[in-house]
Amino acid sequence: MKAVGYRTRGPADVLVDLSVADPVPGAHDLLVAVKAVSVNPVDYKVRTFESPKAGEAKILGWDVAGVVVDVGPDVRMFQRGDEVFYAGAMDRPGANSEVHVVDERIVGPKPRTLSFEEAAALPLTSITAWEILFDRMRVDLAKDGTLLVIAAAGGVGSILIQLARQLTRLTIVGTASRKESADFARKMGVHYVIDHRRPFIESMRELGLPSADYVAALTTTPESLPWIIDVLRPQGHVNFIDNPAIGVMPFKPKSLTISWEMMFTRSLYQTDDIIEQHRLLKKVATLVDAGTVVTTLTRIGGPLTAENLAAAHGHLESGQSIGKTVLTAIPR
Ligand SMILES: NC(=O)c1ccc[n+]([C@@H]2O[C@H](COP(=O)([O-])OP(=O)(O)OC[C@H]3O[C@@H](n4cnc5c(N)ncnc54)[C@H](OP(=O)(O)O)[C@@H]3O)[C@@H](O)[C@H]2O)c1
Repeated sequence: MKAVGYRTRGPADVLVDLSVADPVPGAHDLLVAVKAVSVNPVDYKVRTFESPKAGEAKILGWDVAGVVVDVGPDVRMFQRGDEVFYAGAMDRPGANSEVHVVDERIVGPKPRTLSFEEAAALPLTSITAWEILFDRMRVDLAKDGTLLVIAAAGGVGSILIQLARQLTRLTIVGTASRKESADFARKMGVHYVIDHRRPFIESMRELGLPSADYVAALTTTPESLPWIIDVLRPQGHVNFIDNPAIGVMPFKPKSLTISWEMMFTRSLYQTDDIIEQHRLLKKVATLVDAGTVVTTLTRIGGPLTAENLAAAHGHLESGQSIGKTVLTAIPR
């Protein structure tokens, strides 16, 4: 099959068009014809830091919408012809290829009302956002409170805002530093926008909000770390998803809870509750089809070729991306 990947780690121009052996589905796997893929920061981070095994190419791409073309013998939930969306597993090849194999327990039914491109924008970030809100922060659906989302207009922020707005009673404050990112965050449902370049507590107080109960720290810098501690109320909760160098002692005086989200944990460790990712994707698909949640697709980067994928990586690496960029299937 055709694929896009790299043989030597490095900048975006290491990506090349490849021809590799077709994958064979294992017992619980679906074989999926890839119709659209989305790009995420994990793609350029792996491309930059992870060398392929000697003599092999590494294929990236963990955000897919496609059609099931074959199933392993123990598959129970899907059949040939089903339209699906999923993120996949980090310890298996990515989906920047014509066909792809994935464990059915981390796959959801594609939202019926979306195109493949619109659907491919959603799975990785929806899993991340859902797990942050409901598995890590365990937000109480019946309680009021304030949630600060740092990097609100990015891939994760734009779906997290929607889920929080639709499913919780939280007041949502999102950071965005440009007019276009602020506008997009508002469109996705934040109540208020503040600039991430100012101490959060100052902007929050100007809005009449004394503190945050929860902070979804989707992008953290050495400068913003103390601002997170300042803005949280005593006994508040911060969730990190990027790679900040944090020491835990500054979080002690307020008895703050720190949690981590890594959306590949369940697949990487084959946890007992791995099927929760299937369930949450199904719920997201239902919300989309009910018109409650919308796709976060903002750019289509053309068909999946090394050249187009490198451009999509470059756009994301600029740190200026809004919503999600998607590429369509590999040209035949
Ligand atoms: N652990 C996990 O499971 C997991 C899952 C998904 C993503 N991640 C990680 O989470 C991070 C965010 O992912 P993403 O897909 O949302 O990224 P993204 O789409 O690239 O985020 C882009 C947004 O970040 C904002 N931004 C840039 N620099 C900022 C800063 N210094 N402070 C605050 N906001 C800033 C920009 O808005 P402005 O206009 O406001 O600058 C931009 O709109 C990445 O590091 C990614 O690798 C982790």
